[in-house]
Amino acid sequence: MDSTALREQRQTPHPEVHAEVGHQEAPANRDVVFETRDLSVFYGEFRAVRDVSLTIYRNHITALIGPSGCGKTTFIRCLNRMNDLIETARVEGEIKYHGVNLYDKKVDAVEVRRRIGMVFQKPNPFPKSIYDNIAFGPKISGFKGNMDELVEQSLQKAALWDEVKDRLKESAMGLSGGQQQRLCIARCVAVQPDVILMDEPCSALDPIATGRIEDLMQDIKEEYSIVIVTHNMQQAARVSDMTAFFTAEVNEQQDRRTGVLVEYDKTENIFQTPTDERTENYVTGRFG
Ligand SMILES: Nc1ncnc2c1ncn2[C@@H]1O[C@H](COP(=O)(O)OP(=O)(O)OP(=O)(O)O)[C@@H](O)[C@H]1O
Ligand SMILES: [Mg+2]
Repeated sequence: MDSTALREQRQTPHPEVHAEVGHQEAPANRDVVFETRDLSVFYGEFRAVRDVSLTIYRNHITALIGPSGCGKTTFIRCLNRMNDLIETARVEGEIKYHGVNLYDKKVDAVEVRRRIGMVFQKPNPFPKSIYDNIAFGPKISGFKGNMDELVEQSLQKAALWDEVKDRLKESAMGLSGGQQQRLCIARCVAVQPDVILMDEPCSALDPIATGRIEDLMQDIKEEYSIVIVTHNMQQAARVSDMTAFFTAEVNEQQDRRTGVLVEYDKTENIFQTPTDERTENYVTGRFG
């Protein structure tokens, strides 16, 4: 599948909505961005995640929660084929992105990562100026428009413009951690992605910077679909529309732990009326 086909898929709402949402009826008539079916992820012989079937919706914030080692990072990395970069990683099952099999041989993984951007736990600005951090991606993908405008718009969207507009030529490494993380979000936004994946984007930030990123997520979800991994229950409850709770199951020999999806539902249901005892124990802080 080339980039044109992916673009067409993006513009055509997926006709069928198969939702795997706990005891709640599926949110009807909403566009589906990702649909995973029996997704397992292996590192060599080790199966880190098993049989995940889950539907992720457009213009929603979807939170992935669960104890350390249950496979949240492994799962989210599948959604833009970052796992391809890990030599031992292998995926079984299916991930459809706007109806296209993401792991089809014809799909260009570089194009996938442009459409599905990622923000990591630790802000990772390039050792370049603030301006060049934003301009880099669009330049590579052949952007021909007004770069100054694009840089400003992207920084505005990431709620960073006012703080940096007079120092665009200065190094991004001189920004605070919270500013660096917003710069990474601006960098992501500059290439006009469809989805933004965030793996614990606030874990290194103070509550004020965290609050700004949460506000920013609410602002930009009208334009993007966001998937966020978080260890912070309040954050998941505050920002997300849907929540998926993962846990690690131990095998009979007690020597292997495999991540499984326990429950997936609207966020309020996961936090207020979970159907599975393991979810309840986790969200009430009795486990994990
Ligand atoms: N590159 C890798 N090679 C081999 N095993 C890995 C690799 N990355 C993760 N794993 C293993 O896969 C399992 C799931 O790890 P993962 O990092 O996805 O968990 P997580 O839920 O993100 O945990 P945390 O909350 O601590 O970030 C763990 O057992 C981990 O050791
Ligand atoms: Mg992780």
